[in-house]
Amino acid sequence: MYVDRSGRCGRPILNSLVLIILQVGLHTVEGVWPLPQSFISSPEQYRLNPQAFYFGYGRQSAAQPGCTVLDTAFKRYFSLIFPDFSSGYGALRFSADKPFGVEISVDRDDCEDYPNENSSERYNLTVSNGRASLNAETVWGALRGLETLSQLVYQDDYGSSYVNKTEIEDFPRFQFRAILLDTSRHYLPVQTILKTLDAMAYSKFNVFHWHIVDDPSFPYQSRTFPDLSSKGAFHPMTHTYTQSDVRRVISHGRLRGIRILPEFDSPGHTKSWGKGQPDLLTPCYKGSTPSGTFGPVNPALPSTYEFMTSLFKEISSVFPDSYIHLGGDEVDFTCWRSNPDVRKFMQNMGFGSDFTKLEAYYMENIVNITSSLNKTSIVWQDVFDYHERIPKDTVLHIWKGVPAKYQEELSRITKAGMRVLLAAPWYINHISYGQDWHNYYTVQPLNFSGTEEQKKLVIGGEVCMWGEYVDATNLTPRLWPRASAAAERLWSNENQTFNVNKAFPRLQDFRCKLLRRGIQAEPLFVGHCKHEYQGI
Ligand SMILES: *[C@@H]1O[C@H](CO)[C@@H](O)[C@H](O)[C@H]1NC(C)=O
Ligand SMILES: *[C@@H]1O[C@H](CO)[C@@H](O)[C@H](O)[C@H]1NC(C)=O
Ligand SMILES: *[C@@H]1O[C@H](CO)[C@@H](O)[C@H](O)[C@H]1NC(C)=O
Ligand SMILES: *[C@@H]1O[C@H](CO)[C@@H](O)[C@H](O)[C@H]1NC(C)=O
Ligand SMILES: *[C@@H]1O[C@H](CO)[C@@H](O)[C@H](O)[C@H]1NC(C)=O
Ligand SMILES: *[C@@H]1O[C@H](CO)[C@@H](O)[C@H](O)[C@H]1NC(C)=O
Ligand SMILES: *[C@@H]1O[C@H](CO)[C@@H](O)[C@H](O)[C@H]1NC(C)=O
Repeated sequence: MYVDRSGRCGRPILNSLVLIILQVGLHTVEGVWPLPQSFISSPEQYRLNPQAFYFGYGRQSAAQPGCTVLDTAFKRYFSLIFPDFSSGYGALRFSADKPFGVEISVDRDDCEDYPNENSSERYNLTVSNGRASLNAETVWGALRGLETLSQLVYQDDYGSSYVNKTEIEDFPRFQFRAILLDTSRHYLPVQTILKTLDAMAYSKFNVFHWHIVDDPSFPYQSRTFPDLSSKGAFHPMTHTYTQSDVRRVISHGRLRGIRILPEFDSPGHTKSWGKGQPDLLTPCYKGSTPSGTFGPVNPALPSTYEFMTSLFKEISSVFPDSYIHLGGDEVDFTCWRSNPDVRKFMQNMGFGSDFTKLEAYYMENIVNITSSLNKTSIVWQDVFDYHERIPKDTVLHIWKGVPAKYQEELSRITKAGMRVLLAAPWYINHISYGQDWHNYYTVQPLNFSGTEEQKKLVIGGEVCMWGEYVDATNLTPRLWPRASAAAERLWSNENQTFNVNKAFPRLQDFRCKLLRRGIQAEPLFVGHCKHEYQGI
């Protein structure tokens, strides 16, 4: 029995027979999620014996043993490919099996680099004649190929592992495939973030957008301004991210080909900043006297820009990625309007009473600060809406306008020649009864009116998990496998992945793989997994 939204009780309706048939064959529904661009498989099967299985570097490969990104990936993927063996359940069988080798070759030795906006993730994977070969331009592409290989392997009822003869050529449709976590509204333990990075790699996401601070708390422990977190975090010791925590997140991401994109949102969404940085926020007035409350960052004081310059200098050295997210959304003008000093500044600057000009002035300053640090800015779409002058390389992040309005914004912004990132249809913190993954799956990021040139300016998409109602207790089941639906939209060829009914069994199987890997992904609908979550 279930209670539907109108409060009536009833029996869940199985909307198709397909579902039942799929459950029977669940463990032979070989599928890779997200679907590779080109995938040919055959019934020819090879048995994999963990004691006769190895990863090796091709002789031609630019990366060789000692390459940390690949050496550590081999260890991880060995455990993922042989879950029984590594968790101690597998019988140590000695067999006469011929060794099965996976030979990896990459064109470039970028083992010590960080993945960046231009990193190739292409790979070719061939399984045939009792061996596999994986070729990629970069180590990041090799990581994607290892993930695919791990998903091709399946177990029979006796725990033996198999892989079929397969030929894959693969690359992402969009270069930027992100997940946003919000660590201000609730503090997320570092372990939770690391685990999310693991799961992101399983769906081939490649950017972690860390919305690290906001109104409620400032958990980032700054070297230059330690008071920001000692006064602005929920707790100065237990609810902060130290420099070493941040380094762990960056390194964990790097080893999985995931960029870490920090967001320090201003001038709005900064209440917590004011606790540790006096005179940063605008004092609001009631009539002719200060009311004791504070508004957005004070754009009228030179000290504001000196502070921001020092802070962003630190941030740009701590986070290696070439992008920084500067926020710029939802600025409430009421407090600025109430403040006589701000109004005087407006007069001096010739802004009249147009507060969008003041905001534009502020954002331009912040964008200039990041440019001078050789970083590319990402800002929320609000900045485009009132700004006349933003550097052409700024990326606009679309978050408004569901169900349909975001298409117009895509059109408008790309027409101006600016690059965009689409988040609006993937606000996954919103929940509802039923299979809402359909909504995330059927998004068509390029279905807006515009030229081919305009469409090329859509660099990718982002799944947002805002934290008002989310902390470590419910993050994982709310995120997975729903975010994976968006992952396929952003990676795979749209033409081969437009049908939700066709995708369903593969996604259901992928969700079982997530459970098997220790990711507490919620069910999509009625069904079962061979290895259920044990609830410990
Ligand atoms: C893999 O091989 C098995 C055994 O021949 C076959 O039943 C199955 O359909 C194959 N899977 C794919 C995806 O080719
Ligand atoms: C990526 O490529 C573009 C175009 O060639 C270049 O301007 C940009 O600096 C590159 N980014 C990085 C991080 O190398
Ligand atoms: C993959 O194979 C195609 C076709 O043979 C080839 O053009 C391409 O360069 C290969 N890509 C990689 C990353 O090896
Ligand atoms: C930002 O930089 C541009 C280009 O150097 C300059 O024209 C503009 O005046 C700067 N804006 C502000 C607010 O300083
Ligand atoms: C930015 O890049 C320029 C040109 O490559 C270089 O001269 C300058 O030192 C860099 N600035 C910073 C802060 O890294
Ligand atoms: C693109 O969107 C429009 C309007 O939402 C819709 O009518 C049309 O069918 C979509 N195009 C495709 C190819 O699905
Ligand atoms: C998808 O199909 C359409 C219509 O057949 C075609 O124009 C387009 O090139 C295809 N896209 C890809 C990425 O294959």
